[in-house]
Amino acid sequence: MLQPVSGFSKKTKDEKIDWLVSSYLNNDSDSKNVLKQYWNNDEKLQKLHDGFIENTISNYYLPFAIAPNFLINGDLFTIPMVIEESSVVAAASNTAKYWLERGGFKAEVISTTKNGQIHINFYGDDLAIQTFFSETKPTLIKSISEIEKNMKKRGGGLLDIVLVNTTDSLEGYYQLHCTFETNDAMGANFINTCLEEIAGTFESTSKLFADFISKNEFPEVVMSILSNYVPECLVRAQVSCPVGEMSTNDMDGNTFATKFIRAVEIAKVEKRRAVTHNKGIMNGIDAVILATGNDFRSVEAGIHAYASKGGNYTSLTDAKIADGNFIFSIEIPLAIGTIGGLTALHPLVKFGLSLLQNPSAKKLMKIIAVAGLAQNFAALRSLITTGIQKGHMKMHLVNILNNLDATQAESVKSVAYFKDHTITNSAVANFIKQLRK
Ligand code: MEV
Repeated sequence: MLQPVSGFSKKTKDEKIDWLVSSYLNNDSDSKNVLKQYWNNDEKLQKLHDGFIENTISNYYLPFAIAPNFLINGDLFTIPMVIEESSVVAAASNTAKYWLERGGFKAEVISTTKNGQIHINFYGDDLAIQTFFSETKPTLIKSISEIEKNMKKRGGGLLDIVLVNTTDSLEGYYQLHCTFETNDAMGANFINTCLEEIAGTFESTSKLFADFISKNEFPEVVMSILSNYVPECLVRAQVSCPVGEMSTNDMDGNTFATKFIRAVEIAKVEKRRAVTHNKGIMNGIDAVILATGNDFRSVEAGIHAYASKGGNYTSLTDAKIADGNFIFSIEIPLAIGTIGGLTALHPLVKFGLSLLQNPSAKKLMKIIAVAGLAQNFAALRSLITTGIQKGHMKMHLVNILNNLDATQAESVKSVAYFKDHTITNSAVANFIKQLRK
């Protein structure tokens, strides 16, 4: 039987792999080779990647691609995308081209406020904690003056602290709701450091407050953490053009626009469709988030929560016709950064950001929103015309051929043949089999 391992993180990379392969993989040398073939010969680069997390045994590659021709607020961008799904980048590029010919994308940042909470237990008199808070607020703010010094120099820092009585939802539950401006940084470390400092000051100061002492009822901090729900950190992107110019895939502009709007309406009312509709949007968003070294989990969590802000999970995009124009838009919360975190560390992230002309966080918010809108446009355009599988399987054919170890000649013949035949794993396998006979 397997025994638990102790002191694992202290083992060398080779020792870790030896342990792993002997414990779980029957000492299979192929497994070792798979891990080692991804090691980078450049020791400095490898060390950098090993440093990102604990217990690294290899590197995990994803394709780094680019989607050119994105005209956003009059400037042309080539957008870096990191993603494994075969048709996403092709779809982004096609949509960029489509809208390049129709005036491009417009995007604006609506707000940039981030937030975090200090969650508190207090079962005493509401007036006592309210009085304590208003008397102590200046001390709480002062307690982080050293931490926020640099952020303040850049025009950011703590914006406000509000005591919220949340006892209606949970007995004895209060919060200090803190808001922040973090400029070009995502700001997670900054916010959490501020919150923990404020929480410590709040708790220690409360021990000296006469009302609490007299009743022996003190507030207790449960935890302090930023929120990934950032509905006050919002960006909007849109495309529009006369309906008559929307003809596509043998469909006239009016029919296309009407059917497109219907598809968005369905995603607005039907949760099962909305989730998939939004997943397609996230194909574009996550790909740029990864290429620019941002945290895709926080962005995913925040955006999906925003999609259900009205109580029902719904579409993140909106489409309509107004004054003969087709208007398609997206509004999403995005707490991202272009400085700090991985942005200065990962060479490909640095490359991705320089490709985007080292944008401010605000500019990157706009680019990411556009990538999400473009991806949704591409998906709906396919879904309401040819269906999604045609384009998807065309791209996926390469993967199937790689899986079958197809030669260059076999691949060329397959691509030609499957231009007008339905692509499935078995159809391609049969075709290759025939060729090899
Ligand atoms: C696939 O990754 C994304 C789509 O399912 C999105 C959609 O249905 O809108 C094509």
